[in-house]
Amino acid sequence: MFLPGPRIAHRGCSSTAPENTMAAFRQAIDLGVEGIELDVHQSADGQLVVIHDATLSRTTSGRGYVNERTLSELKKLDAGAWFNPAFASERIPTLEEVLSFIDGRCTVFIEVKQGRKPYPGIEEKVLKCINDLKVRDTVVLHAFEKDTLHRIHRLDESIPIYLDLFFPPVLGTFFFDRVVLQSSILKYKTLKGVSINHHALSPRLVRKVHALGLQVLAWTVNKPQDIQRMKSIGVDTIISNFPERL
Ligand code: G3P
Ligand code: CA
Repeated sequence: MFLPGPRIAHRGCSSTAPENTMAAFRQAIDLGVEGIELDVHQSADGQLVVIHDATLSRTTSGRGYVNERTLSELKKLDAGAWFNPAFASERIPTLEEVLSFIDGRCTVFIEVKQGRKPYPGIEEKVLKCINDLKVRDTVVLHAFEKDTLHRIHRLDESIPIYLDLFFPPVLGTFFFDRVVLQSSILKYKTLKGVSINHHALSPRLVRKVHALGLQVLAWTVNKPQDIQRMKSIGVDTIISNFPERL
């Protein structure tokens, strides 16, 4: 079965470098992780950029929405000083820059994001970027929005996909039954697993997901005791801001 590997660096090594920057991805590669998670949005001129929020203020020197700025405007922003002045030279990378840098050295777990509204054509552009760079064997796509995953599957019936889920603690199994078991997304052979917030995971929910032939990815697991709990209940992959602790 396809696996992204046991350790995924969430937004790169985002506890020791600014998230979703080349510095964070470089550290993750140096650490030898099996996977790197990142988030993709779209600029005003339709370019794919790697940043978590739809807005700029938390992680850059800019203000407003990502899709209100062209790529050249986004490239002028400082994407590192908010984390530490030593990273002030970091810029918002494009998806192409990140995939070219990683170049198949680990699995890239690409989250296709939405802005205030879905970005027109973002799924086609992500797939084109992956195919142009010839890295599709080491790339998987994930999203919280089922519509995004349906569009990806319509465009490409072989790229692996994962459904992101956020459930309240303790009620994971209850919500899984209602949100996932009835969903048409389950019919896709390319659906390899679900990525669930770790507070909602229990041995019962892990068994339920495995019984469907799907993998369980746990996010975002940072504390040593939580990492240990995820290992003991048998999740397949742990996504962490501290991949060095895995
Ligand atoms: O797999 C889901 C994980 O990426 C958590 O979501 O984007 O809020 O960090 P995010
Ligand atoms: Ca993400």
